[in-house]
Amino acid sequence: MRLATLRKGKSCILYDADSLCDADQAPQIGPSTFTPDWWQAQGGITGQAPGRGASLFLSAGNGDEWVLRPYRRGGMVARLSDNRYLWTGLERTRAFREMRLTAELLARDLPVPTPVAASVTRHGLIYEAALITVRIPGARALASLLENDEADDDLLQRVGAIIRRFHDAGLDHVDLNARNLLVDNSGKVWLIDLDRCRLRRDGGWKRRNLERLERSLARFSNPAAAVHATERIVKGYSD
Ligand SMILES: Nc1ncnc2c1ncn2[C@@H]1O[C@H](COP(=O)(O)OP(=O)(O)O)[C@@H](O)[C@H]1O
Ligand SMILES: [Mg+2]
Repeated sequence: MRLATLRKGKSCILYDADSLCDADQAPQIGPSTFTPDWWQAQGGITGQAPGRGASLFLSAGNGDEWVLRPYRRGGMVARLSDNRYLWTGLERTRAFREMRLTAELLARDLPVPTPVAASVTRHGLIYEAALITVRIPGARALASLLENDEADDDLLQRVGAIIRRFHDAGLDHVDLNARNLLVDNSGKVWLIDLDRCRLRRDGGWKRRNLERLERSLARFSNPAAAVHATERIVKGYSD
């Protein structure tokens, strides 16, 4: 992966030049790549991500599917302006940070989706942003497996072991929950949604990440199953 930036009008794009440039090194990407309308017009929208429904699945043309996720706020602020953030510099935008962090984790062989490109559009004091990643084929959220009682002990231990690898690398995942852990067809576990996450020195954040996950497990399983799932995950984490 070779990250490069491209400026077009008010937009700035950070993209993987290895996968997005043609033979003449011209990037095959632009601000329209981040607009659902453009994909709609091409007939390139293949679905909508579960959850908030803000993310779209796209047919990238090379056989891959992409996930286009606009940055949105949740909660009360959302009503005023749900996709605008205060500008404090390009490298401090949510999209550029998540793109660079995801590329860094991928380079360390950690199971994160391959990042494709991040886009930031500045309007004076505020900006809007979006991120594209490669879709993990056949992935289902751990949340959905728990709800259907399909998460066996072996899987739960592997979830714990994967979280441990991310923690050993120093990743503080501020939204570690059962929707951000995906399991593909082969049973491989992936961690997604690195918005606002960062690499840090050892500290109490590891315990807080695990506690957050524990609360999330309780949302998708009955109380006894949640306790059991937590135990297996902690075992995989500690082994
Ligand atoms: N690379 C990916 N491959 C497959 N599914 C994905 C991928 N990225 C996101 N998704 C799906 O989209 C949903 C929302 O994406 P996420 O990055 O968690 O954003 P948010 O939680 O902010 O809406 C995820 O729960 C997952 O179902
Ligand atoms: Mg998420």
